[in-house]
Amino acid sequence: MRRIAVVPGSFDPVTRGHLDVIARAAGLFDELHVLVVHNPGKTALLPITQRVALLQRSIADAGLPDNIVVSSWSMGLLVDYCLEVGASVLIKGIRSQIDVAYETPMAIVNRNLAAVETVFLLPDPANAHVSSSLVRQVAALGGDITPYVPRAVAEFLQKAPV
Ligand code: PNS
Repeated sequence: MRRIAVVPGSFDPVTRGHLDVIARAAGLFDELHVLVVHNPGKTALLPITQRVALLQRSIADAGLPDNIVVSSWSMGLLVDYCLEVGASVLIKGIRSQIDVAYETPMAIVNRNLAAVETVFLLPDPANAHVSSSLVRQVAALGGDITPYVPRAVAEFLQKAPV
C-alpha cells in the first residue's frame, strides 16, 4: 500500500523551516503533497499561485526527492483533499509548545471528520524561531530575510517588494 501524506499550510512565503519539515516528511512517505491552503485568519502577502511557484522552485533548488507534489486547495475541508488523493496522514512541523496548542484541536477535528491522523515532526532547532509572519514583517520593513527563506523567495521579494 502506498503511504501518502499531506503537508498543509499557508506557505506565505515558504521558509527554511518549512523546507526542513518537507524534506523530513518526504523521506517517511511514498508520496508527499505540499498543499497551499488559504487561511482566512491571516492577511495574505502573496497570491496562492505565487506561493505554489516559489515552493516548486525552492524544492527543486534544494534537490529534494521527486516524490513531492505541490498543489493548492480552496474547495473546502483539508480532509476532502486528503480523501481525494488517498492520503491518510497530515504532517505538521512543531517549533514549540505554542504550535502544539495551535495544532492539537485541528488534529483532533481532522481525525473526527475523516479518520486522517496528524503526525507532528520536529524541525532542526536552528529553524525554531523562523515563521512566515516574521519574514513578512521583516521584508515589509526592508530588513534582510535571506537567513530565513530559500534563495528563490529572497530573490523574488527583493525584486518585487510587497
Ligand atoms: O500555515 P498555517 O496558516 O498555520 O496553516 C493553517 C491551515 C491552512 C493548515 C489550516 O487553516 C487548515 O487546515 N485549513 C483548512 C480548513 C479546514 O479543513 N478546517 C477544518 C479542520 S481544522
